[in-house]
Amino acid sequence: MHVKENSLIKATAPSNIALVKYWGKRNRALNLPLTSSLSLTLRSLWSEATVEESSSGQDEWEITGDPSKAQRVLEEARTFTGDRRPLRISIENFFPSGAGLASSASSMAAFAKALAKFLGEGTTSLDEMARWSRLGSGSSVRSLLPGYVLWEAGREADGSDCIVSQAFPPEHFPLSLVVCVVNDKPKPIGSTAAMERCRDTSPNYQAFHDRNSFDLERALSAIKNRNLQGLADVAESNCLAMHDVMHQANPPVNYFLEGTHKSISLTRELRASGVPCFFSIDAGPNVKIFCPPEHHQSVVDACNTLTELVDILEDPYKPPTS
Ligand code: DP6
Repeated sequence: MHVKENSLIKATAPSNIALVKYWGKRNRALNLPLTSSLSLTLRSLWSEATVEESSSGQDEWEITGDPSKAQRVLEEARTFTGDRRPLRISIENFFPSGAGLASSASSMAAFAKALAKFLGEGTTSLDEMARWSRLGSGSSVRSLLPGYVLWEAGREADGSDCIVSQAFPPEHFPLSLVVCVVNDKPKPIGSTAAMERCRDTSPNYQAFHDRNSFDLERALSAIKNRNLQGLADVAESNCLAMHDVMHQANPPVNYFLEGTHKSISLTRELRASGVPCFFSIDAGPNVKIFCPPEHHQSVVDACNTLTELVDILEDPYKPPTS
């Protein structure tokens, strides 16, 4: 009989920021998105998951916050592999959790990778890993790959065509990221609940999804042609359209704080002064500014002038190591 290994397994995954956003589901139980999304995987903001057999006879968790998302990922991995050994699990984020910096994306991706190594003994496919990870957080599937990543919504009821793939490697169009941290405390309402409120009450929820294929096409073409202004136009307008859906929900979902508005203005001023850059904002007040690597320091210097920020996180472009 083949006895499975019981060494401690570690896996890491970076966060990712969507350039064309996911903000709605076609199936809540399977966590299938209503439309496709496109993101850039980061490098320096990441999570680590470790998995080993538990000697206490039951699962032991060391995780910041609510373990229910991770429990869904674990249950799916157990059902698939048939391996139900009790586990000792730790998941750690090396940046602020729950503040719209996509910590659930990196943590669920790292956890799915660790489970694939431990329970799946390294033979689990990317599609299968993505299926486990998706149940913890939809956007996490994009963190399983580096570079510009496309998460296709698909049409099949069972989600079999809801897949993730690399659209372009990071070195095709290198971009750095600077995060203006306006608030690093957990957000007032989580993405899943906020999406549902938008679906139920926001008058422009459908219009946001109707523009998805147009935005995706424009974003992919801008990346292909290394056209920063083109990518800036689509990423900023897609992001603001998503927040507009939230602002029109009842009651409104408003993640923006004064520092958010100041960081948006700063990005626009920088661009007008000749520094190519653009912003994106997820379900939180913090503003992510993308720029070519050679302009990274100018963006950081400009962000340092904003008194509203509690921190500035840097995710400089790093060429992939082969
Ligand atoms: C605003 O992946 O956190 O960051 O699937 O319900 O867990 P659930 O949501 P989550 O949503 C992320 C939404 C977003 C946009 C994006 O990353 O595409």
